Amino acid sequence: MIENDAFLRALRREPTPHTPVWLMRQAGRYLPEYNVTRRKAGSFMALATNPDLATEVTLQPLARYPLDAAILFSDILTIPDAMGLGLSFAEGEGPRFARTASDEAAIRALAVPDLAKLDYVFAAVAQIKRELHGRVPLIGFSGSPFTLACYMIEGRSSVDFATVRKMAYARPELLAQLTAVNTHAVVAYLNEQIAHGVDAVMIFDTWGGLLPAEAYRHFSLAPMREIIAQLAPGADGRPIPSIVFTKGGGAWLDEIAACGASGVGLDWTVDLATARAAVGSRVALQGNLDPLALLTDPATVARMAAAVVRAAGPAPGHIFNLGHGIVPGTPPDHVAALVEAVHGASREHRAVA
Ligand code: CP3
Repeated sequence: MIENDAFLRALRREPTPHTPVWLMRQAGRYLPEYNVTRRKAGSFMALATNPDLATEVTLQPLARYPLDAAILFSDILTIPDAMGLGLSFAEGEGPRFARTASDEAAIRALAVPDLAKLDYVFAAVAQIKRELHGRVPLIGFSGSPFTLACYMIEGRSSVDFATVRKMAYARPELLAQLTAVNTHAVVAYLNEQIAHGVDAVMIFDTWGGLLPAEAYRHFSLAPMREIIAQLAPGADGRPIPSIVFTKGGGAWLDEIAACGASGVGLDWTVDLATARAAVGSRVALQGNLDPLALLTDPATVARMAAAVVRAAGPAPGHIFNLGHGIVPGTPPDHVAALVEAVHGASREHRAVA
């Protein structure tokens, strides 16, 4: 059914002819054709809520590079928007909510949104699947309940999410109420993406790494474990492959690897060889080149990519990615060098192994 299923095989720790590679934010502002479509749409939300345009930008990086997976073009903040918080993206400033969920009354008033409000996402999934013609798998995604809570409480991006951390310590039952609503919403949202055809799902926990270990377990890891346990099977009737990515979660790898996900995403601070030794063959690992390495030059990119492939070792179950999203300003030809180096180095590595 899927022509190149190396990504799905790697998630199942099955051998693959090469290391599969896709990149977080592979459809984004570093691509001139993305900026053209984004301008045509008028705003990020106009782009994300239009299934034709969302399909177009999802496929743009696949037209340029032999990537091994597509990722739905959308955003993690669609769920709180559908809950009525009013999402917008001010030019060059990141996300803004018109209303926050930062006090008891606002949090108690939240409910799992009517999924009909997110129809644009499911319509995009179905259209992308059709236009991919089975070339590579499609990844669906959501934010983690804790990371969504961070934006819902703060109302915007923050370097430290201080209000959220204070709530975790002073009003733990209130934050737990918020992550519980988000957990139910994420389960419904991901299962609807699965029903519309995604081949794997990823949970982005961008801010879990800000928490002390015990608070991380309680507010971030436990809700993600609950979500994974409630995912519907994929179209083939098998459990849907899943990836959990906690940025800054390297110190808790052992526990994250036991949450039920097929794969664990690693940021660039983690030593991949040490990580593999720690988890054995229990899970697939995804990562973890520093996205800023792409700002150097093609030879450096190729050398550093090959080093990541070597560090991952000969065992199956590595998916190459960056340790976080591609940054705007990344030269597109450096991405070409990266993908070529990952495929080349991993084929060589298998030939000598
Ligand atoms: O990876 C992909 O190519 C798929 C699309 C995708 C986007 N956002 C598109 C996007 C995915 C998977 C996300 C997830 C997301 N969104 C996360 C988790 C991953 C991470 O980056 O940590 C978070 C925290 C968000 C929230 C968000 N969306 C922020 C903080 C911003 C502004 C920062 C920025 O890069 O400008 C966005 C906007 C956004 N989401 C853009 C894209 C391509 C750029 C906006 C634009 O085009 O104007």
